[in-house]
Amino acid sequence: MITVRAPATSANLGSGFDVFGVALDRPADIVSVERAAETTIEVTGAGSQYIPEDPKKNTVGAVVEELNAPAHIKIDKGIRPASGLGSSAASAAAVAVALNQLYDRGLTRKELVPIAGEGEAVVSGEPHVDNVAPSILGGFTIASDDNVTTVQASIPLVACLPEIAVSTRDARRVVPSEASLEDVVHTVGRAATLATGMCRNSPELVGEGMHDTVVTPARAELITGYDEVREAAFDAGATGVTVSGAGPGILAACHSRDRRTIASAMVDAFADAGVDSRAYQTCIGRGAEIL
Ligand code: HSE
Repeated sequence: MITVRAPATSANLGSGFDVFGVALDRPADIVSVERAAETTIEVTGAGSQYIPEDPKKNTVGAVVEELNAPAHIKIDKGIRPASGLGSSAASAAAVAVALNQLYDRGLTRKELVPIAGEGEAVVSGEPHVDNVAPSILGGFTIASDDNVTTVQASIPLVACLPEIAVSTRDARRVVPSEASLEDVVHTVGRAATLATGMCRNSPELVGEGMHDTVVTPARAELITGYDEVREAAFDAGATGVTVSGAGPGILAACHSRDRRTIASAMVDAFADAGVDSRAYQTCIGRGAEIL
């Protein structure tokens, strides 16, 4: 039996839609696999009642197919589904790493990224690897066309998850299909600033680089209390705030000294908007680990 821990992730980081992602130190999924003639999936933990165990409908079924590696798969969810923290991607990443080891496929971590990305298509309708890449490789990842670049950055973060569900499919439907040249110029500038901030471990540059005028405003509409929570996080010292992945989670970059205050401020602001939430005080972390 092989057991793998794969971390939650936050994709996009505002200016890097479908390109940027970071692995989070916590929470994480734990997955165990054993060889079997036919694939079975058992899901326990956070939000498991919403996750199908049929291999054709579960995100990890596509990974099993890609690797031609049938197995009994047990998934212990630490990451709530439909939260914006790459829940399905973490399971797909963990299964890809585990089956590669179990069946001795000999693929590199980078080669496993597109394989785990096939699982994402099951959930969102289109394969994209900005969550599976950091969950497998760790750190800050830039997924551009077929290439993935990683930076092992260290930036303190707060991820606040409201008790509302936003499906990735719905959140992709509201993304504008066109952007003005002015918005493109703004986005390129902010994305470059963010990537530089990751290389320098600068919360200021990372926060500044999170600003986005194209995708985030459209998605913020789906999150009750977004503007208030964003403002509360900035007031408490956040250097940048944006929607985490497809939402409804909200991600704040900060200095570690402000992390606790920001977490409380975000939870309080959601409560004022009538929404329960939970905040993770976290940082950029490692990729999937074989336990
Ligand atoms: N880049 C993806 C999105 C991440 O924002 O839709 C969520 O799967």
